[in-house]
Amino acid sequence: MQPANSACEILLAIETSCDDTAASVVCDGTIRSNIVSSQIDHARYGGVVPEIASRAHQRFVLPVTRTALEAAGVDINDVTYVAATYGPGLAGSLLVGMSFAKAVSAARNIPFLAVNHLDGHLFSPFMQEDGALAQPPFPFLALVVSGGHSELLVVEDWHQRTRLGRTRDDAAGEAFDKVAKLLGLPYPGGPAIERAAMGVKHGVGDPAFVDFPRTTLPDYAFSFSGIKTSVLYHLNGYDEAARAAYLADHLHDLAASFQQAMIEMLLRPVEEAMRATGIRQVALSGGVSANEQLRVQAQALCRRRSAALHVAPRGLRTDNAAMIGLVAYHHVAAGRESPLTQTIDPSAALV
Ligand code: KG4
Ligand code: ZN
Repeated sequence: MQPANSACEILLAIETSCDDTAASVVCDGTIRSNIVSSQIDHARYGGVVPEIASRAHQRFVLPVTRTALEAAGVDINDVTYVAATYGPGLAGSLLVGMSFAKAVSAARNIPFLAVNHLDGHLFSPFMQEDGALAQPPFPFLALVVSGGHSELLVVEDWHQRTRLGRTRDDAAGEAFDKVAKLLGLPYPGGPAIERAAMGVKHGVGDPAFVDFPRTTLPDYAFSFSGIKTSVLYHLNGYDEAARAAYLADHLHDLAASFQQAMIEMLLRPVEEAMRATGIRQVALSGGVSANEQLRVQAQALCRRRSAALHVAPRGLRTDNAAMIGLVAYHHVAAGRESPLTQTIDPSAALV
């Protein structure tokens, strides 16, 4: 991982694929700073508004970068590489970060690296507490679950992976966000549902309170639109006043029941894949991997099957630029760089 002949390679990474403006400084493959500015305006609309997101990135990309440089104790003139996410994500958002990074590259005459956002998530479970990326134990099974993606892969090498299955409809994070809205919880829905299920007000929610149906599909595929409809129908069983009272009394139980159904639907294909492939290394990534119950139950599954579970350190599971910087550093070490003609790819995939 160490680039040849370098005392200290300083890499600045920018991530603006969705609604978080993020910058990170990675020195010789170790995270020195990691700054994320989450746009709060979207909460008012119950989801990400692309136009608002790109305008906010324009406003925040420079101050967030300055803060990341300051936190790392680095001057912009000392930066030796600059990286940005090229996709997948919202076109307007990606353009801001990419253009900014390319401008730094041109102005400072330093190499530019374009990184796939999903590669950042994919390898983030191997970030160590000291901020460096460990060599992943290839091959490993990867469950990548975010607001836009839900897929299960066998990762054979840094650049070789096979998709076992993916969602046929909503992404797991999207299901959390939509069901949160139905329950009257704010955006982003995943953390809101997790907090509600932990029952700060009413005690811990009962995961068996409602037995929401678990959709099971062949070929390691996922489907989350059915459970969203089940929650909707369940709530529609009450008129408006009764529903408000029901939610006031049982929000924590409903959140816990939905969360439990999601966890079971996510982990069942992982268990099947472990059985079919014999692979005993499992990596959970993407924003949904921030869910503590998912991690606890994945850990129990791995223990039962004598497997090792890898999850990114807390705070690095949702979108951040450190994961982009660490993957970019790996490209640098392998002698790769991207041309300034590189364009964004809003629908870039992992495979
Ligand atoms: O990876 P990420 O930060 O952004 C994308 O690449 O999409 O993932 C964001 C998604 C959102 O849908 C959010 O609701 C979900 O991850 N999420 C969670 C939790 N934290 C974030 N879902 C369940 N439990 C959480 N604690
Ligand atoms: Zn993401």
